Amino acid sequence: MPFYVQRGRIPRQRHIVHREKGEHTYEELISRRGFADTSSNLYHLHMPTAVAELGAPIPLPRKKLEDPMQRPRHLRTQQLPPGGNWVEERTLLAFNADLALSVAAPTTASTPWFYRNAHADELIFVHHGRGVVESIFGDLPFRPGDYVVLPRGVTHRWVFEPGRNKLLILETRGAIETPSHFRNQHGQLLEHAPYCERDLRVPEWRDPIDVKERFEIRVKVGGDRLQPTFLSHHPFDLIGWDGFYYPWILSIHDFMPSVGKIHLPPPAHVTFTAPGLVVCSFVPRPFDFHPRAIPIPYAHSNVDSDEVLYYVEGNFMSRRGIESESITLHPMGLPHGPQPGLLEPSIGARETAELAVMVDTFAPLIPAAGMGPLDDPDYLYSWLEPRS
Ligand SMILES: [Fe+2]
Repeated sequence: MPFYVQRGRIPRQRHIVHREKGEHTYEELISRRGFADTSSNLYHLHMPTAVAELGAPIPLPRKKLEDPMQRPRHLRTQQLPPGGNWVEERTLLAFNADLALSVAAPTTASTPWFYRNAHADELIFVHHGRGVVESIFGDLPFRPGDYVVLPRGVTHRWVFEPGRNKLLILETRGAIETPSHFRNQHGQLLEHAPYCERDLRVPEWRDPIDVKERFEIRVKVGGDRLQPTFLSHHPFDLIGWDGFYYPWILSIHDFMPSVGKIHLPPPAHVTFTAPGLVVCSFVPRPFDFHPRAIPIPYAHSNVDSDEVLYYVEGNFMSRRGIESESITLHPMGLPHGPQPGLLEPSIGARETAELAVMVDTFAPLIPAAGMGPLDDPDYLYSWLEPRS
């Protein structure tokens, strides 16, 4: 997506005869919005269309939370029991037509099957965990702090090193992109953007795997089921590819924050956009430098967005009772802001060590059943002044 990449061996021109060890190769175009957007050309040893068998769909039901209350929520996702793999054991917390938001703490190092999301792009923030995303485009080593961008249709699987894993997962209706106001007319990131192409990690090349055995790809369809699909060859059989469509990584630690004389609102921290939502990164930075600045945010009513904040590490000075891995959800219709007693101590503070990921959606989020066991019922009342 961000720029042109070429890997492996490709023919000098598109759509011409290309042989590997005397045999024809098979070209596949992966493209967005028909043929009118970003695309990549992939060159396979075997026909990518050769499906040998389909399995019975595996349901992943989207259950709503049986709680109609519109209220701010604090979800203690640090209490999520670890277990399972990174696809089937995602805990869905909230969703709407644009987004499904989940967390996962997988303990399965890898799966024998591969995965492809047919109907959603995925943005996965790695809070804890290291390993490699093996994809048809090549390998993407990941580490804590990485945003892994997996456009739809990319066959891949995650392989975790031993250790604790914690992922924040966004599945989006549309493409996850760099913010357009940080790009020039040619797509290059501008000088004032908070990151540049040099910060983006793209797939490392891996030689084709030419094995003719049965391999399974679980294709996520409709957001609520997996369709097991069997090939009679290894899916990573590319001898080369080129184009603008591939998975990539940006580390939150490479995000260069802006600092203002007075408090800068979240649009200064936008990292990605997708239809119906934005993703912002709050990273360690000096505070505002006006001599009378109030660094702590003011109360605000997001009248047309729901705000999700995932707290990574550092001290979260505008919220009490929040710990690493907490999520707050502040829905439209209710103002939110710092809790009592935090304004005065913030005056004169020089810097913040907070690290957090924010997701603002422009349509209301529907709470999912998965948030029920993680819900902190006292959070709603945490803005009440202490009684003397
Ligand atoms: Fe907010």
